[in-house]
Amino acid sequence: MSAENEQPPARLRRRVHHFRKFKEEKRRIVFITAHDFASGLAADKADVDAVLVGDSLGMVALGFDSTLPVTMEMMLHHTAAVRRAVKYAFLIADMPFLSYQISAEDAVRNAGRFVQEAGAEAVKLEGCCEVLPAIERIIAAGIPVLGHIGLLPQAIHRTGGYKVRGRTEQDAEELIREAKLLEEAGAFAIVLEGILPGVAERITQEVKIPTIGIGAGGGCDGQILVFSDVVGLTASRTPKFAKRYATALDDMTRAVSTYAEEVRAGTFPGREHEY
Ligand code: KIV
Repeated sequence: MSAENEQPPARLRRRVHHFRKFKEEKRRIVFITAHDFASGLAADKADVDAVLVGDSLGMVALGFDSTLPVTMEMMLHHTAAVRRAVKYAFLIADMPFLSYQISAEDAVRNAGRFVQEAGAEAVKLEGCCEVLPAIERIIAAGIPVLGHIGLLPQAIHRTGGYKVRGRTEQDAEELIREAKLLEEAGAFAIVLEGILPGVAERITQEVKIPTIGIGAGGGCDGQILVFSDVVGLTASRTPKFAKRYATALDDMTRAVSTYAEEVRAGTFPGREHEY
């Protein structure tokens, strides 16, 4: 077959069972967050493995100063928008503060709303021991769960801020124990956030399910970053653990400034923009 007749390889529609296989094959796993149709489209066209509609959307898309004000209704609205864009990546919705902590029944009902009303294929919950009954009930209801341990943004008032974890051997062992409990409960993967790299590596070796790091070094099975940090859409400085690959906010500001200048100068619209 000549080169011009060659078909591009068929794209893989990621399903929950692929992630463990990727870990076994030592294929590094790419997650990213998305918060609307455009970010979902960019992520899916870039062929990432999974898209998380993270409650970080409270900060990057809604202008709150933490994830705590984010509600179920906000998450459902944004997850449904991302769902309309994502065709190949596995779509996970983040359960917001108080949507799973009150009771396991409540947690199952809310997780079910993400599947039924917004088209999510899995949900993510922060924490371990205190939410294990909720995690088990959600999985029993047929909904895959992504765990999340380490730095827990929904618990900043309990922990006294965004604190890196694993600084003592006792804390490292606690994190390893939590990862094993989540694996036993049936989580399909675990986000490791804000954990010292050596500890994240130990966790990664101790569990068969993939670990997805953010601020946890390069030794995890995969990585997740917040979309706005990756494309430079955040006004604030990019966190130390993130890497900015574009300057979207600067480019957007430049585009709008040029548009405004042209309207004021009477050079837009031109003849070519007329019907
Ligand atoms: O809300 C979020 O974006 C997250 C990721 C940072 C893991 O929880």
